[in-house]
Amino acid sequence: MYKIAVVPGDGTGPEVVAEGLKVLAAAAAKFNFKYETKHYEFGGNRYLATGKIIDDQDIAELRNYDAIYLGAVGHPDVAPGILEKGLLLKLRFDLDQYINLRPVKLYPGVDCPLKNKGPEDIDFIVVRENTEDMYVGTGGNMKKGTPDEVAIQTSINTRKGVERCIRYAFELTRKRNKKKQLTLCAKTNVLTYAHDLWWRTFNEVGEEYPDIKRDYAHVDATCMWMVKNPEFFDVIVTTNMFGDIITDLGAMIQGGMGIAAGGNINPEGLSMFEPIGGSAPKYTGKNVINPLAAICAAGMMLDTLGEEAAADAIEQAVMYVTANKLKSLSAGKMGYSTSEVGDLVVEALGA
Ligand code: IPM
Ligand code: MN
Repeated sequence: MYKIAVVPGDGTGPEVVAEGLKVLAAAAAKFNFKYETKHYEFGGNRYLATGKIIDDQDIAELRNYDAIYLGAVGHPDVAPGILEKGLLLKLRFDLDQYINLRPVKLYPGVDCPLKNKGPEDIDFIVVRENTEDMYVGTGGNMKKGTPDEVAIQTSINTRKGVERCIRYAFELTRKRNKKKQLTLCAKTNVLTYAHDLWWRTFNEVGEEYPDIKRDYAHVDATCMWMVKNPEFFDVIVTTNMFGDIITDLGAMIQGGMGIAAGGNINPEGLSMFEPIGGSAPKYTGKNVINPLAAICAAGMMLDTLGEEAAADAIEQAVMYVTANKLKSLSAGKMGYSTSEVGDLVVEALGA
């Protein structure tokens, strides 16, 4: 019996989460596993009503679960940073979800903005460090609002944090068993302290993985190659900030935010799965948003819980739907409503 905490969140989060849960129920019936869910109303609406986002007691309660399934964080009436830091980053940090795993895979039938690239060219995975770097929030302003203002926000990189991320990436590259190639994406030519740590750690840990080919690309070049030769990549390991940026580019080459899913992984603890796009407030309540990213996130959650066959079947069902049903992955242009897309996946799953 898996215990899953569901945090639908803001905007279209609840709509896409509902479809993910629909597919989860179908997968459970077909693959004979049991789970229970409880919904938590953390997010912008509760914050606006009560001033509360999420506290240590909530976090303590969440620790009783096997996984967290998250919709979206971000509310148009809440200033930028409050919910992002107070909810999403707090969960990632407090639960020590030190890996942000983001597959970049073009499914059949999906329009790719890159000329002459198809599903055989775009299939790699980004391992984004998820608890350090500029995201830590160390720094501050001095003489704020004056012409003499100073602003400092530091990139924190610890040997322990870097090493556990890189080690995870090597293990994943081996398990994936595709090109057996791991690319470190950094900026060693400018960040000569922080990324020197990444570089040295990458090579030291890499010695333990003689079967994995080590590759390096600066982050700017990584962006170039992702557009020019995406087929080159197998697994990319990178920092929190760079990973944030390159995975939005990744989402675009795999067909858009409607399909991009991610996992915030604590390999030794509690992980959290989410569609990586935002809360898309303008589509809220219209039943037009694409739920496939949330459905894929539910698949990743099952994979991590050990239900690999079910996870695989969900991915196959999503691929069937992109190849044979949807006109587009964009909100309002799919040819189906949000809930109909969920139904199509359930049907393809043959549960
Ligand atoms: C993401 C998002 C978050 C991030 C924001 C909402 C804090 O962009 O999950 O990629 O920067 O990590
Ligand atoms: Mn992002």
